[in-house]
Amino acid sequence: MSDPAFSEKLKEKTGQVTEVVSGFLPEEEGRQRILFEAMNYSVLAGGKRLRPMLMQETYRYLGGSREREADLLHPFMAAMEMIHSYSLVHDDLPAMDNDMYRRGKLTTHAAYGHAVGILAGDGLLNLAYETALRVKPVGAVERDCVFRAMKVLTGKAGAYGMVGGQTVDVIGTGKSFSEEELLFIYRLKTGALLEASMMVGAILAGADEETVQTMEHVAADVGLAFQIQDDILDVTSTVEELGKAVFSDEKNKKTTYVSLFGIEESGRTVELLTDRALKRLSETSTGTEEDGFLRELLLSLVHRTK
Ligand code: IPE
Ligand code: IPE
Ligand code: MG
Ligand code: MG
Ligand code: MG
Repeated sequence: MSDPAFSEKLKEKTGQVTEVVSGFLPEEEGRQRILFEAMNYSVLAGGKRLRPMLMQETYRYLGGSREREADLLHPFMAAMEMIHSYSLVHDDLPAMDNDMYRRGKLTTHAAYGHAVGILAGDGLLNLAYETALRVKPVGAVERDCVFRAMKVLTGKAGAYGMVGGQTVDVIGTGKSFSEEELLFIYRLKTGALLEASMMVGAILAGADEETVQTMEHVAADVGLAFQIQDDILDVTSTVEELGKAVFSDEKNKKTTYVSLFGIEESGRTVELLTDRALKRLSETSTGTEEDGFLRELLLSLVHRTK
């Protein structure tokens, strides 16, 4: 169980991240107004804001400049949450997981219709890149960091990352997977965006290549643990608590970590992976801004209930 001081801090930080993201969302105007409404609806519906929060906390953990956050980090934080939100909008579509609730509200396609749902996802993905490119780097070093961060963000979101994982996930619906196949899917569909979040935070903080790679490994373990916990919650939680459908995986005849190994073994794996991630994290040198929140955040994911 997390302590009240941590919960309070988490709530405050979630609000701050939401504020950053909101600042980059489109005005709901013009002939395509319905599209902007659907995009904003899906992003502002709620959510833990884990990925932009991880990006910011990694940046701070590695001593990134607080003064440069607004110009360098904020556009990437917003971009990451837009990509994540788009992935959820499409994941919920009838052709994919066919789910009706997300973040405690109707899914975007359920609220706006299938066509606008699809287009809202497309709009968010493009807006993400437009947003990331609103960074204001000063000097050659920062410009190089932005270029590297952009490469990571685009790569991890695409066919070699999240989209690739979602593809293997959906074409395998109804088939049984081995553990190895399943972990491939999890690494890409969920791990890739978490990896990008921590790597971009590290790159923008000015970390060296070795540290960025360490963050990739840390996030890869966190990503696996996160998806396994998501599978556990799918069979142990409630719609009210989760804000999304439960037994979605069973409905879609998905092989999950839980269907392969059971709830208890899955829970142990989540702990083991988190433990390994935290050990690896300790190997990196920390900056001056470290307040222990990144570690607490990663640890809290093990027992998360939503
Ligand atoms: C849901 O992600 C999709 C998975 C990768 C399991 P989150 O659990 O982070 O969803 P939100 O952003 O809090 O709604
Ligand atoms: C992760 O898998 C989805 C994405 C990468 C978008 P799930 O399909 O299990 O996610 P939920 O349970 O719908 O949030
Ligand atoms: Mg899915
Ligand atoms: Mg789903
Ligand atoms: Mg799920």
